[in-house]
Amino acid sequence: MPVKKRVLFVCLGNICRSPMAEAMFRKKVEEEGLAEVFEIDSAGIGNWHVGEGPDPRAVRAAARYGVAVTHKARQVSRDELDKWDMIVVMDQSNYEAILALGAPADRVRKLRDFDPQGPGDVADPYYGGEESFDETYRTIERCLPGLLKALL
Ligand code: 4NP
Repeated sequence: MPVKKRVLFVCLGNICRSPMAEAMFRKKVEEEGLAEVFEIDSAGIGNWHVGEGPDPRAVRAAARYGVAVTHKARQVSRDELDKWDMIVVMDQSNYEAILALGAPADRVRKLRDFDPQGPGDVADPYYGGEESFDETYRTIERCLPGLLKALL
């Protein structure tokens, strides 16, 4: 079997945005018949929520669109940074933190670099309401076709 393409999604807490992106991207590659081609995971910059399941609001928002989010939160480790072909971060703060941790800059991308509506941050929904999580879902969804294309 060919070598897998390894993709890590990273946000701050690993309970909202990156577990949603991980589940959504996994579903997309499965639908495209590409499940075997990818290794997909997510992790957080911070350690506050390590071991916890995803935020219930993230689970509910994704479920409204038919996506199950089941990741258990973990903190990104310096030791794994070379393992990933692409590290996809959600915002500028994640970007700066992952480079400071030692990630190779040529492998780090912001998810919204693939947004047809233009680059920017995937806003942190943590202090918002249910509708912030719908917005997170729709933003991630817009970016995934471009991300997949860039990886193939
Ligand atoms: P995430 O959202 O980075 O999308 O998982 C957050 C989750 C938790 C916190 C901040 C953002 N927090 O401060 O605990």
